[in-house]
Amino acid sequence: MAKRIVKRSWAENFKIKVVEPIKMTTREYREKVAKETGYNTFLLKSEDVYIDLLTDSGTNAMSDNQWAGMMIGDEAYAGSRNFYHLWDNVKKYYGIPYFVPTHQGRAAEHLVSKILIKPGDFVPGNMYFTTTRLHQELAGATFVDVIIDEAHDPANLHPFKGNIDLGKLDKLVKEVGAKKIPYISFAAPVNMAGGQPVSMANIKEVEKFCQKHGIKMWLDATRAVENAYFIKMREKGYAQKTIAQILKEMCSHFEGIWVSAKKDLMVNIGGILATRNKRVFEEARNLVVVYEGLHTYGGLAGRDMEAMARGIEEMVDFDTIKARIGQVEYFGKRLMEYKVPIVQPIGGHAIFLDAKKFLPHLKQIEFPAQTLANEIYIDSGVRGMERGIVSAGRNPKTGEHNMPKLELVRLTFPRRVYTQAHIDVATESVVAVFDERKKIKGLKMVYEPKYLRFFQARFDKLK
Ligand code: F0G
Repeated sequence: MAKRIVKRSWAENFKIKVVEPIKMTTREYREKVAKETGYNTFLLKSEDVYIDLLTDSGTNAMSDNQWAGMMIGDEAYAGSRNFYHLWDNVKKYYGIPYFVPTHQGRAAEHLVSKILIKPGDFVPGNMYFTTTRLHQELAGATFVDVIIDEAHDPANLHPFKGNIDLGKLDKLVKEVGAKKIPYISFAAPVNMAGGQPVSMANIKEVEKFCQKHGIKMWLDATRAVENAYFIKMREKGYAQKTIAQILKEMCSHFEGIWVSAKKDLMVNIGGILATRNKRVFEEARNLVVVYEGLHTYGGLAGRDMEAMARGIEEMVDFDTIKARIGQVEYFGKRLMEYKVPIVQPIGGHAIFLDAKKFLPHLKQIEFPAQTLANEIYIDSGVRGMERGIVSAGRNPKTGEHNMPKLELVRLTFPRRVYTQAHIDVATESVVAVFDERKKIKGLKMVYEPKYLRFFQARFDKLK
């Protein structure tokens, strides 16, 4: 009997107009370049990569509408019309009145940290992000992780693993006093936890607590559209709301947000600092001219701001975000067919391989995730990124390695860039490495830069 269709497929809501050729390489060649670049995937040349799943940051394909916008860039030093278009859309979609552009997310983090933090302060947050925490530390604060315990367990199926644990927050307030906590650094979703979302209920609970203690709420809204999608799919009462409504509701609970526009907005560069606090706005607008550029371009070209303004309009489209998260989900499900250990539930922007389970014979100090990212690159030219002990850096006070519970390799999807066939190739590569996992040896670190070491550290293979 002929095969019957049991479930109808869906496909992306776009077709491809421009293509970029990619180079195929041999295993021998990749072995050579991996060694030459100190077994750090950040140090590889992009042309030596076949399928680039290093990050979804700035690696997205812009739409024809965004490219058309690039042609009407108003490159005036002051008062570019694209700045005003972008500001209008920040107000309209994030629902926040005051806006300062920055060249990318960490520049906004720098300004926010400088303005809000005094030396000796404590900043609680749900897990941490590398650049976010570093800017908080450089401004003199100690970062304290107050995410729920479930987030540190790759196999736990909690639907909102990004949530903040009010008990942990309360303990911190009792220990150091609310006066020493300038704001709570809320990320939605949580990149380092595996792209895990935060529920609206949790945002509201934390807000109530913060109001009681006079603590401000700031949101890292870098992938907030993905968080809004998960709220729509998983949280009671949100199924009928649009992504735009949920995004605005999320942001309504915060004094301000910072955004790396290189993600949700589907552009190659850009950042946003937006706030309801006029005083913070005035200070940010003043500081941006010191570090970035005039407050009407913040280190960006007019054309970049136009692409961002148009990206904001596209990012809240349900089919666009569904196609994006659908790709990640397809990849995760395929890996699970082969029992490859991944962080669950599957997050929004990436699949995170659980390197501790994948390579249980390696100690954490032998850099299992760094090792695994390299093995996958050598197998197929698929590039991922370490998100474990190397990314976690050292404790600034003791100088010891931070030993995160999660030791992960992130395989991240640029938006609108790769096809299902690319995902199948990547799946087969991870499975091929999984089949040979017992033979894999770890690494030792031979060069360690002071800040954000994962970007430039170098390694050697252990014998
Ligand atoms: N916040 C989050 C949650 C991020 O993921 C990033 C960047 C930033 C802030 C900083 O923004 O790169 O524009 O300066 N994440 C990239 C990544 C680098 O690969 O996850 P940026």
